[in-house]
Amino acid sequence: MVAITKRVGVLVSGGGSNLQSLIDAVAAGEIQAEIVTVISDKPGVYALERAARHGIPAAVVDHRDYPSRDDFTRAILDRLLGEKVDLICLAGFMRILSSFLPETYPQRMLNIHPALLPAFGGKGMYGLRVHEAVLASGAKFSGATVHIVTSETDVGPIVCQEVVPVADDDTPETLARRVLEVEHRIYPRALKLLAEDLLEIDGLRTRIKKGGKQGDQD
Ligand code: GRF
Repeated sequence: MVAITKRVGVLVSGGGSNLQSLIDAVAAGEIQAEIVTVISDKPGVYALERAARHGIPAAVVDHRDYPSRDDFTRAILDRLLGEKVDLICLAGFMRILSSFLPETYPQRMLNIHPALLPAFGGKGMYGLRVHEAVLASGAKFSGATVHIVTSETDVGPIVCQEVVPVADDDTPETLARRVLEVEHRIYPRALKLLAEDLLEIDGLRTRIKKGGKQGDQD
């Protein structure tokens, strides 16, 4: 039975390197999905160029144009519903959204975080601040996590993770660079599992249904 091709909306705020890895994986036929819209909370970000280059309709929903978080979230949700989006990927998206958005897309919304959640996650943990906290903690490993988005920040069921060793001479910038490379590997993997219905979610745990694969194992 040919599965339905899921329509994906990607929310961005910056360079869009995670968006690019999703675009490339879909274009290479690795994921049965279609990225139908890219929404940025800021104008002029490179992620919008990446979408344009691949002919993906994009829009700016500028948080500064809305009096409240709810109004901003509602504007994004209206656009996603208008495009009949089935799944949402937050890819370097830097705004907190009101909980009614993930509640409208239960178990159908992913986020990537540049650490091994549940460690080094939650309020205020984004960008270089994550890597600064990891280094300050003395942790010998960090990594990246793709998780299901729920109404609480960074605590949804984990879909994919990959570990990155922390080097003795790492700075937040050098660690961030190696973690970002891992992000680009695991996000397409996670989207594939969700888009092709290969994921079982059981509380905070997730399992791969037969036919899916977690890493590069065959
Ligand atoms: C990076 O800090 C990444 O770790 C996090 O979002 C930031 C920008 O990502 N997920 P992108 O290049 O805009 O995808």
